Amino acid sequence: MKKRCLILGGGGFIGSHLADTLLEKNYDVVIFEKLNFSRNNINHILDKIKIIEGDFNNEIDLKNALKGIDIAFHLVSSTLPANSNENPIYDVETNLVSSLRFLNEAFINGISRIIFISSGGTVYGIPERLPIKEYHPRKPICSYGIIKKTIEDYLYMFGKLYGMDYYVFRLSNPYGERQNPNVAQGVIPVFLKKLIKGEQIEIWGDGSVERDYIYIKDVTGALVKSLDANPNERIFNLGSGRGYTLNDIIGIIEKVTKKKANVLYKEKRNIDVPVNVLDNKLISEKLDWKPLTEIEKGIEKTYQYLLKEIN
Ligand SMILES: NC(=O)c1ccc[n+]([C@@H]2O[C@H](COP(=O)([O-])OP(=O)(O)OC[C@H]3O[C@@H](n4cnc5c(N)ncnc54)[C@H](O)[C@@H]3O)[C@@H](O)[C@H]2O)c1
Repeated sequence: MKKRCLILGGGGFIGSHLADTLLEKNYDVVIFEKLNFSRNNINHILDKIKIIEGDFNNEIDLKNALKGIDIAFHLVSSTLPANSNENPIYDVETNLVSSLRFLNEAFINGISRIIFISSGGTVYGIPERLPIKEYHPRKPICSYGIIKKTIEDYLYMFGKLYGMDYYVFRLSNPYGERQNPNVAQGVIPVFLKKLIKGEQIEIWGDGSVERDYIYIKDVTGALVKSLDANPNERIFNLGSGRGYTLNDIIGIIEKVTKKKANVLYKEKRNIDVPVNVLDNKLISEKLDWKPLTEIEKGIEKTYQYLLKEIN
């Protein structure tokens, strides 16, 4: 029988691509999303999936969503690294408390596996060693990272005490088609959109901030691969293992688009760690996975998508 997967936040950037990959691999897909959410990302699969609208913060909505589900992917977040420090109480209430409620409900409903997307870019804080391995100390410097870290810890507790089956993916910086170019997460679509519109690109700091970028289809490939595996390790970095500075990204974007970027360098932000590159050996070894998309190719695909969307 086909396994039934619930994607909490499935109408978003990562969730919609995950839905595509799960359907390709012959899973049943249920998407849980906010009331009246935009169908833009999932219009092409509306006849293949089930949609449940509700609020992740509402216990009854969660109970309804979890009925008959085998595997649940937790992809909801109400904050971003850049804004989470503005109101940590809101962050705790909407992300941490609601995630705990979700874990309780998942346990009661006998969900056979939970997959949680954590943040490889924020849980470690300022790295002591590079590339960052999974056992590197976790010292986040933003509320978003503290919440992700704490959800990881509760998953560990549920696993140890109640035998909950779960996997955590500490994702680096995913990019690709459908990523929102209007929010403060994901510099690649933000920069591309500015370039397409002939607008100035703003960079906080001198552009030396280094990150690990991974194309979205490589991300969903890894997540779906994990469903067929049962490694003893529960936590995996999910990144390309390569670092690019913001200035490198501008250079690649200029090459791909054949346009010159107009960049304004502004004062650096204190929430940005100077460098973050994830070691991906563990996931490569245990899930027999590796990222396949070169950054130029991934940026080209993202550019072509945005050109169509914007024009
Ligand atoms: N995009 C990244 O750079 C990145 C990096 C690391 C981790 N993550 C994590 O991956 C997950 C998915 O990220 P994304 O980029 O796809 O984000 P996204 O904003 O595109 O998708 C999240 C979805 O969750 C839905 N949602 C939010 N609050 C909800 C609520 N109360 N009830 C029901 N639905 C709700 C939103 O409508 C949205 O469609 C998040 O947990 C995020 O923290 C993202």
